[in-house]
Amino acid sequence: MYRYLQIRRDGAVEHVTLNRPDVRNAFNDEVVTELRQWAEGLAEDPGVRVVVLAGAGKVFSAGADAAWMARMAEASEAENEADALATTAMLRAINTLPVVVVGRIHGAALGGGSGLAAVCDIVIAEEGAIFGFTETKLGILPAMISPFVLPKIGVSHARALFLTGTRFTAARALAIGLVHTVVAAGQLDAAVADVVREALTAAPTGVAAAKRLIPQVAGRSPEDVAALTAKTIAAQRVSPEGQDGLRAFLEKRQPGWVPQ
Ligand code: COA
Repeated sequence: MYRYLQIRRDGAVEHVTLNRPDVRNAFNDEVVTELRQWAEGLAEDPGVRVVVLAGAGKVFSAGADAAWMARMAEASEAENEADALATTAMLRAINTLPVVVVGRIHGAALGGGSGLAAVCDIVIAEEGAIFGFTETKLGILPAMISPFVLPKIGVSHARALFLTGTRFTAARALAIGLVHTVVAAGQLDAAVADVVREALTAAPTGVAAAKRLIPQVAGRSPEDVAALTAKTIAAQRVSPEGQDGLRAFLEKRQPGWVPQ
């Protein structure tokens, strides 16, 4: 159904793998369209609770396809902007998926590849993986990914890394908040499986509500968000999953959403 994505469903877990290994999973307009369609479809699918985003072949993703970017010189300004907005829409669609999105990073995540890591909730990287906001090395800049990267790494690291385009290690990606766990070579799939198992013990509606809440609360004072946070917990604790989870704890049993 997709040319550049491999999709595999395993119960409530959807594995989506970028599949353009000959160009190191660089993404062009077709990949962007496919990722957006996939994410928008998934957002409507109540059967999925966790997504694992990975790359086929040697690396996770080499970012935007340089040939595609170079070709945009032939397009009008309006076409150029529409094309960039389509990338933003794709990133936003993944960023706002109401499920846990796990990034599985091996080899390299460069440019937009690091941008894709930034729209994941939990990123697990192999220790040899390299990262980088390398766009300025190619004469362009990390524009569409910036609103997704900044909340992860902050202004200080963004300034240092965007302006130099330097490549950096998984250890540094961990230190700045782009990555959450670094594992030894060969341990990536086991680490991803652990985090997937953990994620499946969290209530789906609680996960979706928490994911919606975080960007609404970020950067605001407790006073500013008091009404919102009160409304959110008031609705969740009386909801079927809120009630099941609280009562399950008190009754020393598993709530209904935990896989048997
Ligand atoms: N856009 C288009 N093509 C790309 C690409 C990109 N972002 N990244 C890699 N490719 C292509 C290469 O041109 C090469 O094509 P060829 O076989 O026709 O020569 C092929 O993918 C393999 O790349 P190569 O560099 O030989 O692979 P590698 O395994 O040695 O290294 C990377 C992998 C990802 C480290 C390296 O390809 C790289 O640094 N890519 C650029 C990443 C980048 O700066 N991205 C930001 C883009 S804005």
